[in-house]
Amino acid sequence: MSTEDAHRRHTLESAAEEAQLLRVCERAAWAGATVLQSWIGRFQVKSKGPSDLVTEADLASQEAVRATILAEFPSHDILGEEDRGPVERTSEYRWIVDPLDGTTNYVHGVPHYAVSIAVEREGALLAGVVYDPSAQENFAAARGHGAYLNGQRISASGTECLKDALVAISFPAHVEPGSREIEDAMKALVACQAVRRTGSAALNLGYVAAGRYDAYFARETRPWDVAAGALLVREAGGVLTGLAGEPFQVDRAKFISAGTQSLHKALVELVGDSAI
Ligand code: IPD
Ligand code: CA
Ligand code: CA
Repeated sequence: MSTEDAHRRHTLESAAEEAQLLRVCERAAWAGATVLQSWIGRFQVKSKGPSDLVTEADLASQEAVRATILAEFPSHDILGEEDRGPVERTSEYRWIVDPLDGTTNYVHGVPHYAVSIAVEREGALLAGVVYDPSAQENFAAARGHGAYLNGQRISASGTECLKDALVAISFPAHVEPGSREIEDAMKALVACQAVRRTGSAALNLGYVAAGRYDAYFARETRPWDVAAGALLVREAGGVLTGLAGEPFQVDRAKFISAGTQSLHKALVELVGDSAI
């Protein structure tokens, strides 16, 4: 076989694999979301830490997602927020799962929460889904194949300046007085057109991918909050880096994302680590 033929075959095989992984992400997110909706109005709330809530719905959704993934790929590793799995890696594939991103919204009856599922191989994100059961919105991406919302291709926004930008921000579950997050939020409130703190990091990234938010940055999220969303933003043509503009790492999950290079640069200057 010529080198060109071998390359073409490799590309086709990897596209087929990514499509298969994406289908399982979608099925698992749907299974988790169905469980979440079935628990509305009958769950108990516990605290994991100050202002950090968990419910039976989080745990039941995690179980449904896990069962769906393992039915297809019994040897793959799973890192779930409510099920951290063994520390030792046994597979080159790792599924990164938040069975309920936006638990505080869910607990208060605010219909803005999602199931977030991504799969990576040797550190490269291959497929990801953020599913919002209240709005019935499915944000989906596979590496190299673009980002989609309910089957329609989506693109990040073309906004270039802070003064024209609607920007999402995150705070950790418990916000310390005088913290860097508060300082950054104040700067963004003054410089941007408007700022939103929504309570779902996964949906914030889905909204950046869809061009609804022009940018989103966070100093303290976890891999399961952002793995699927990171792939969505990239596949939608957006920019996503660490806080000083360095390559994004899912296991650090501190980042600045934006629809354009120029808006991203302006945010790195405003709130990034090089701005200290
Ligand atoms: C939280 C949300 C929130 C972010 C927090 C996360 P949870 O996830 O993504 O937007 O600011 O850092 O912990 O607890 O609802 O899964
Ligand atoms: Ca989360
Ligand atoms: Ca969660």
